[in-house]
Formats: sequence, structure tokens, C-alpha cells
Amino acid sequence: MKGLTCFLIWFFLSEAQGFEIPTNELPEFAEYGGLVELAPGKFQLVPENRRYQRSVAGESGETTEDVDQVTLYSYKVQSTITSRMANTIIQAKMVNNSPQPQGVVFDVQIPKGAFISNFSMTVNGMTFTSSIKEKPVGRALYSQARAKGKTAGLVRSKALDMEDFKTEVNILPGVKVQFELHYQEVKWRKLGSYEHRLHLQPGRLAKHLEVDVWIIEPQGLRFLHVPDTFDGHFEGVPVISKGHQKAHVSFKPTVAQQRKCSNCSETAVDGELVVMYDVNREEKAGELEVFNGYFVHFFAPDHMDPIPKNILFVIDVSGSMWGVKMKQTVEAMKTILDDLRTEDQFSVVDFNHNVRAWRNDLVSATKTQVADAKKYIEKIQPHGGTNINEALLRAIFILNEANNLGLLDPNSVSLIILVSDGDPTVGELKLSKIQKNVKQNIQDNISLFSLGIGFDVDYDFLKRLSNDNRGIAHRIYGNQDTSSQLKKFYNQVSTPLLRNIQFNYPHTSVTDVTQNSFHNFFGGSEIVVAGKFDPDKSEQLQGIITATSANTELVLETLAEMDGLEDFLSRDKHADPDFTKKLWAYLTINQLLAERNLAPTAAAKRKITKTILQMSLEHHIVTPLTSMVIENEAGDERMLADSPPQDPSCCSGALYYGSKVSPSSIPSWANPSPTPVIPMPAKGARVLQSTPPPHVIRVENDPHFIIYLPKSQKNICFNIDSEPGKILNLVSDPESGILVNGQLIGAKKPKNEKLSTYFGKLGFYFQSEDMKIEISTETITLRRGSRTSTLSWSDTARVINQRVLVSVKKEKTVTITLDKDTSFSVLLHRVWKKHPINVDFLGIYVPPTNKFSPNVHGLIGQFMREPKIHIFNERPGKDSKKPEATMEVKGQKLTVTRGLQKDYRTDIAFGTEVPCWFVHNSGKGFIDGHYKDYLVPQLYSFLKWP
Ligand SMILES: *[C@@H]1O[C@H](CO)[C@@H](O)[C@H](O)[C@H]1NC(C)=O
Ligand SMILES: *[C@@H]1O[C@H](CO)[C@@H](O)[C@H](O)[C@H]1NC(C)=O
Ligand SMILES: *[C@@H]1O[C@H](CO)[C@@H](O)[C@H](O)[C@H]1NC(C)=O
Repeated sequence: MKGLTCFLIWFFLSEAQGFEIPTNELPEFAEYGGLVELAPGKFQLVPENRRYQRSVAGESGETTEDVDQVTLYSYKVQSTITSRMANTIIQAKMVNNSPQPQGVVFDVQIPKGAFISNFSMTVNGMTFTSSIKEKPVGRALYSQARAKGKTAGLVRSKALDMEDFKTEVNILPGVKVQFELHYQEVKWRKLGSYEHRLHLQPGRLAKHLEVDVWIIEPQGLRFLHVPDTFDGHFEGVPVISKGHQKAHVSFKPTVAQQRKCSNCSETAVDGELVVMYDVNREEKAGELEVFNGYFVHFFAPDHMDPIPKNILFVIDVSGSMWGVKMKQTVEAMKTILDDLRTEDQFSVVDFNHNVRAWRNDLVSATKTQVADAKKYIEKIQPHGGTNINEALLRAIFILNEANNLGLLDPNSVSLIILVSDGDPTVGELKLSKIQKNVKQNIQDNISLFSLGIGFDVDYDFLKRLSNDNRGIAHRIYGNQDTSSQLKKFYNQVSTPLLRNIQFNYPHTSVTDVTQNSFHNFFGGSEIVVAGKFDPDKSEQLQGIITATSANTELVLETLAEMDGLEDFLSRDKHADPDFTKKLWAYLTINQLLAERNLAPTAAAKRKITKTILQMSLEHHIVTPLTSMVIENEAGDERMLADSPPQDPSCCSGALYYGSKVSPSSIPSWANPSPTPVIPMPAKGARVLQSTPPPHVIRVENDPHFIIYLPKSQKNICFNIDSEPGKILNLVSDPESGILVNGQLIGAKKPKNEKLSTYFGKLGFYFQSEDMKIEISTETITLRRGSRTSTLSWSDTARVINQRVLVSVKKEKTVTITLDKDTSFSVLLHRVWKKHPINVDFLGIYVPPTNKFSPNVHGLIGQFMREPKIHIFNERPGKDSKKPEATMEVKGQKLTVTRGLQKDYRTDIAFGTEVPCWFVHNSGKGFIDGHYKDYLVPQLYSFLKWP
């Protein structure tokens, strides 16, 4: 009976009817987690046998005599899905048309893992509303109001992935009653689509029956499909309207259409209405949606080569598997083995009281090996006991051994799939000991997925086992459907596309990030990360994902669209403006519940409990630690709805592969930092709003040179693709004794296979003053003869030395001025601490009015003599947004491309965009000679121009 879950409320409103059942004859419900209690004196019990006869929803149908006595005049279900966040309302209105009091039941099924957020009831004009209370508080409130003692009942959930919510009210003749239940859930992507299931069981014909599903997905709908349900009875009744980003599914059968047959009174509406859809994905780095102080990042890359997998199937072949379970398992295993790719390695371990293996080492999934494994599985005769401990340890041993012998591709993932239908009966029996053994042996490099068949298996144990080892567990019935369910479960993990996925956000503006590191990403699923975002700290939000794919290390960047989403949502009356907040709360609470399960100490557990409680009160949702008190306005009639002690991992969906998130695994930079840090210059368009700063020649970023030519009033730009450590000469003017060199540093890792380089250090030499100024991203060092003084970027300071003025603006700029008419500005770009790719770097700005000698040279210096340029034949380029043209310069014709570069002087964070003509190949043709001619050996070496 473990794992059965339901919500149950009984409530009786009748003065004289009914009779009491002695409490000791009642099934003890509390044991199963549900709690049903009665409110004060007025309320009485209706005996078990009569209750169902009169039920309006749920188990009715057997009796016809009572059917017309209670009329269901309206049954409405409304779901709104805003960016995967689904809110559903189920509402039923009934009236007692009979001359006797009647019991009516509101019995609905809601998906496992959904959070109930509201329940209200109106009986004869009296409204009962709900509030969320801590469990003990709820119970205390309830017991104050209770009179006749408690009663209990058990409701069996019909579907494994559904829970029951049930209320019963006894109403007097002529009385109307209305029930309304609200719940929320997050749609997890599985096997390439989202599935929204609505369990419809009005129990009888409804005068007005209406189901609406609104879907609002800013990414756009790739497809939407409503499979035929209810045995094809309602073919053509659901009406689908689908736009680009919105869809509406309406199911409104008339009373005649609801009838099971033309002259029967039974309803055919008894089953699930399913809406399946998927969204478009243009950005590989996922979709970052920011709204109302929260962000959500959806990540589901497609079109990638699968990573090879090392997979061990561990199959229970004990006696209890005999019959249909084994047949179905063999059938599923045959197709699963056929689906393995040749790059995959596998073996099969089967166990009862003994443990056997098809092969004691991993083999490649060639046709012959697969055929052989299939034969082995077909021959299995289930019998005997269950030695789970041994079997798992054997599987882990085979994988580790293969790895230690160097037989595993370093870029592969290792998985164990355990299929079992029972508790251990042989060998180690203590579940906690098995869990410990597995954890100890599995290290951190194998994911364990468990499939529990039927009800004999201790499913909570399988869940703990999998959650503890980067996997998930799933349970199925041991029936005719086992084969396809097993196959479906396997398919979810059969295509690993990425490993070691890490989500990074700037710690300045982002806090309270949900789990942000994942071991694996499987094709067809989706990773969702959420957090709080403070728009006052930064106008934009950037997310950077690092991961390992089959072929390469990936670095993916994305920038949130801010205003677009707000506009889009405000134009739709169904869109939920709280979707980001709800998603964040949903993920956070589920993570906390999982964490609580694995908490090492009682104190740690209490702390987590407190946080969960606060959150469920704040967000008005029923969690396993809260109950819902339902009372009338006067507060003299109360009911209590409790959820059972539920295993939270049921709700974690396909997402929580990956380690559990403990506070320590949230990187420290994800938390607010007391020191202000300038975010890195973000990519992506931002409209110029400040007046453009005066024209200068500048070098920024990956050294991007922007040369302003005053006579032709044009910006020409180019990049220099050199290597870290190299020193480039920028200005070399031996005649007036002025020198500027820059040393390159590299990013932390390559992006799109190219390692970006930046200026990490600049050297200025003023020969006549014997003054050398070295600026790095840490310090500013001034040397004059043998005297040295050092300034830090955290100072604001001015140093005057003869003709040279050095002025430091804290964490921003250093300006060096010589005699008032020659100056240089250096900008500091800080990236967030622990940025996965970028490093701090420097930018340099040189006004074209600087006074140098006529023979000044260097990458920048040469342009103090403005070359004649002629740009003509503007034409569309390969990229439609970037036109091309021909530029005549220094006797050559070059193809140049229109582009944008950034000037960061007025806006250090985002820069202002400067349109320019881009010269390819490290400025070849525009600069004198080749860029390598500008490499110098030392930070203070003059350029020897050939
Ligand atoms: C619960 O639902 C009722 C009826 O729709 C509504 O009046 C009430 O405001 C809701 N409460 C919350 C907290 O959403
Ligand atoms: C419908 O009802 C009529 C009259 O009561 C009866 O003769 C007929 O057989 C019924 N049809 C079906 C399909 O039950
Ligand atoms: C997991 O890591 C351990 C320790 O580094 C190693 O001995 C073992 O072979 C690894 N197993 C697999 C399957 O990679």
C-alpha cells in the first residue's frame, strides 16, 4: 500500500441525517497520510455504503435511481500554461433536486507532483475558503472546531501518476453547492514533448461541460496535438486553435454528445484529455526568460551527436517476476538492445538469489553481440529470491573494471538500469546498508536508474537509491503495458547528449539559483534553472553554459530578452504574470524536499523544514509539510485537507538527474557579493541612448581596433588574432620618445574553437621623462629611474610627475596625459568572479589629436597620418544584416564588411555601439605590413620598422 497517495476531505452539512460509525470500526486513514476529520456538531456522517450511491463524481454510475436527484449543472476545467508553468482550475456546480438530503462527492484526480494552491466551496451561499497552515497548526485549528471525533477513509488512486482529491458534503433539498480546486505544476519535457493531462470524471451528465487549455509559449509552438481519447467517442469534438505562440484547446461536448449511447444516461466523459506540444528552439544556449524579478532558463539543445554510453542492465529474475511481468520485460529488453548504437558498450546482469551475467565485461553493441544477448534473455526462467545488493555491486564492478583497464571512452557516460519487482530477500536485506554499499562503490561517475514494477517493490527505496546516485526512479504496473512503459522509461535516458553541464549567471544581479549543475543531459528532455534577478543591479541578464558534448567542450552564451516578454505577456489575458516566480518556487521547494530526505542531521533537517514551510505559506501551496484549512467566513465551520507524507522525488520529473543540490554546491558567486563588480561587456544589441563620445582610436576586447579617420569621417576596424603572451606595439615614436606596447592574455577556454585574446597588460614609456607606466588588470606601476610606486585599481588617485599626469578612477579608468596635448585612456573590464570563460582585460583609447612626430608608427601610431580611403560598391553581404563594400587604401582593394564595435567609455557594462567597416585577416592591407611585424620582445621595446 505504500506510495498510494490521495487528498481527502469529508464534510457533511446535514442536521438530522446520517448515523455515526463507531470510530474503532473505521479504517485508520492517518497511517496513509490523508486525514479526514469532521467539523462541529452540525456535521454528521453518512454511512459508507450510501456515500458512493450518492456520489456525483467518482464511483457513481452503478445506480440509476439516485442519479437524477443531484444534478451536475456545470463542470469546468481550465488550464493555462505559461512557459511550462501550468495552473489548473476544476470547478463543479451541483444542486440537490430530491426531497431528501443528499451526499455529494467532489472527487478529482490531479497529477502527482502538482501543488494544490486553493480550494473553495460554496454551500447555499455560504463560502468556505482555504488557507495554508503548518500541519500542527492546521490540526489544532481543526480540533478546536471538531465535535464528534474523526472519521477516515481510503481512496485508491486509479492511475499511478495521479493523486486523488476528494471532498464530500451532505446537502439539504434544494441546496446548491459549488467546488473549486486550483493546482499548479511544471511541464517536464519528455521524449521531445510536453504532455498536459486532464483527468475528466464528472461521473454523470453535465448540463454544461467545458474544458479549456490555453497555452502561451513565448518561444513559439513547434507542434500541438490532441490524441484521440475516450475510445474515440468524441472524435472531432475538441476544437484546436493554434497560433504562433499561443494555442487554445476547447472541449465542450453537449449533453447529447456526452451520452454513452443515444438513450442512456451514463456519461462517456471518463478518462484523460491529453494535449501534447513542443516549442521552437532557435538558441542553442536555451531560452532565458526574465520577468517580475525572477528568471527561468530553459535548455534543451537538439541536433547533437549522442555521447557513447556504457550501460549495464540489471534485471530481477526472481520467482515473483514469473508470468506476464517477465514476458513483458523480455519483450522490452529485445527492442532496447536493438536500439543500442555500435559505439555503446553493454552487458546484462540477471539476478535472483544468485547473480549471473551474460558477459562479465562490457562488449560493444555490434549486431552479433546484441543477437547473443537477446538469446540469453529469452532463455531466462524466473525463480528464487531477490539479491539486489549483490547484483548492483556486480554491475558497478564490471563498469569500474572496464574503466580501470582503460576500455571506456573518456568521453562516455556510464549508466545502470535496474529493473525489479520486489524487496531484497537474499543477501543483504537492510535497505540502508544496500544504499550505503552502492553509494560507496559507485563513486561519482555512474548514474543509476531504477524501474519498479508493481506494488511489492519498496519504491521509496528505489527512489532513494537513484536520487543518491544521479538517476531517477520510475514505477509501472506489472501488466500488459509493462513492455511499452519500460521501453519509454529507457528511451528517456538512451540518448545522452551532454555531460557536466554547468549554468553560470552574474553574481551581482542574480541570487537564489536553483540546481545549476547537472551530470547529464538526455535528448528529448529539458533542463530548467531559475533564480531571482535584480534589474536595478544590471539591465541585462546573461547566462553562460559550459558542457561537454560528444565532440567538443561547449561554451554557450545567451542574453535575456527583457522588454519583449513583458509586452508579449501583457497582451494576453490568460498569461500568468507570476509564472517565473511560481516556477522558481516549484523547483526550489522540490529540491528542498529532496534535500530534506537526505539531510545528515536532525538539525539540518529542521532548518530545511523551516524554509519549506515559509515558502509554502508565502506561495500559498500545499506541500507535504503543510495542510489546508477550509473554513467559512464566520470561522465556525472548518475542514482540513492534508497531503500524505509524500516522497518528493516523485515530483522532480526528468530534471533531477544530477547531484542533489546542497547549499555548498551552489557556487559562492551565485550569492550576493558585498563588493561591486563590473559585469563583463555583454554581447547582443543594445540601443544607443547616450550621445556618442568624441571620436578616438581605440582597442577593446579580443583586440578589436577601431580607427577613426577624421578626414573621411569613417571608422575602420580590425581584429588581431595572435596568441597569449605576445607583445604588440601600438605606438612607437622614437623621435618624441613615446612608446605604447600591449601584452596579450587568453580567455580561460576557447569558445567556438577559438581562443579569444585581450590586452592584459599595457606599457607606456615616456623617454624624455624616464618614466615607465605599467598597467595590468590588478595594478598600475610607475617607474622613474630606480623609484617605483604602485597604485591599485581600487584607488582613486592622481600622480603628477614633471610633464606626466596619471589619474586613476577607481575600478574604471587610468588616464595618462603628457603636456596636456597628448593623452591615453585605459579602461578596466572586470568580469564576474568565476566567469567560466572570460578574464579581466584592458581597453585603450587614443585621441587622433595627440601630438606625435611625423614618423610615429605602430598599430595605432601609423594612423596619426590619415591614409586616403575610398569605399564604394556597397552590396549585400553573406549575412543580410552585414553589407559588404570595397575599400581602396594604400594602393590595394579590400573587401570590407559593415559591423558594429563597442565603445565603453560612457557605459562600461554594455558599451555604445560604433558602426565601422571591418577589415578581415588581422587588418591585412589596411595596416602597413603584416600584424606579426608589430610583435616586440619586451614591454618597453621600440618597434624596429623594416
Ligand atoms: C481561492 O479561490 C477563491 C475562489 O476562486 C478566490 O476567491 C480566492 O481569492 C482564492 N485564494 C487564493 C489565495 O488564491
Ligand atoms: C432506446 O430506448 C428505446 C425506448 O425505451 C428502446 O426501444 C431502444 O431499444 C433503446 N435503444 C438503445 C440503443 O438502447
Ligand atoms: C569512477 O571513478 C573511480 C575513481 O576515480 C574509478 O576507479 C572508476 O573506474 C570509475 N568508474 C567508471 C565507470 O568510470
